[in-house]
Amino acid sequence: MRRGALLLAALPLLAAAGDPAPVRQAELDYMLRQDCGSCHGMTMKGGLGAPLLPEFLQAKAPDALAEVVLDGIPGTPMPPWRGLLTADEARWMIDRLRRGLDQ
Ligand code: HEC
Repeated sequence: MRRGALLLAALPLLAAAGDPAPVRQAELDYMLRQDCGSCHGMTMKGGLGAPLLPEFLQAKAPDALAEVVLDGIPGTPMPPWRGLLTADEARWMIDRLRRGLDQ
């Protein structure tokens, strides 16, 4: 019993630092397609919002893009997501978009 508890306690160390837990990753993935997709397109090819496909994001600094997600872009429909997302989660979503949602 005690050995099992120790093993569980060590599990989070196996994930890359800062990565959300797997269950949370599934939620964020869903959010990307549903919430972000409502403006950016379900396939991220753009709509009301800019395209978020890898080729459009490669040249931009990931940290700056994560800031956009957290703070939104004032004066445009892009809303701030701070409060719903942590900085690590915003960064994970950007990394996910830069890889391509279907990768
Ligand atoms: C209500 C519509 C709307 C929703 C929902 C929305 N966005 Fe946006 N987003 C926009 C618009 C519009 C822009 C472009 C603003 C401009 O520069 O004119 C934008 C810009 C961006 C940019 C900057 C793109 C670039 O090339 O610089 C990123 C990154 C981004 N959104 C990510 C997200 C993510 C991630 C979500 C979900 C958590 C999301 N957006 C949800 C409307 C939206």
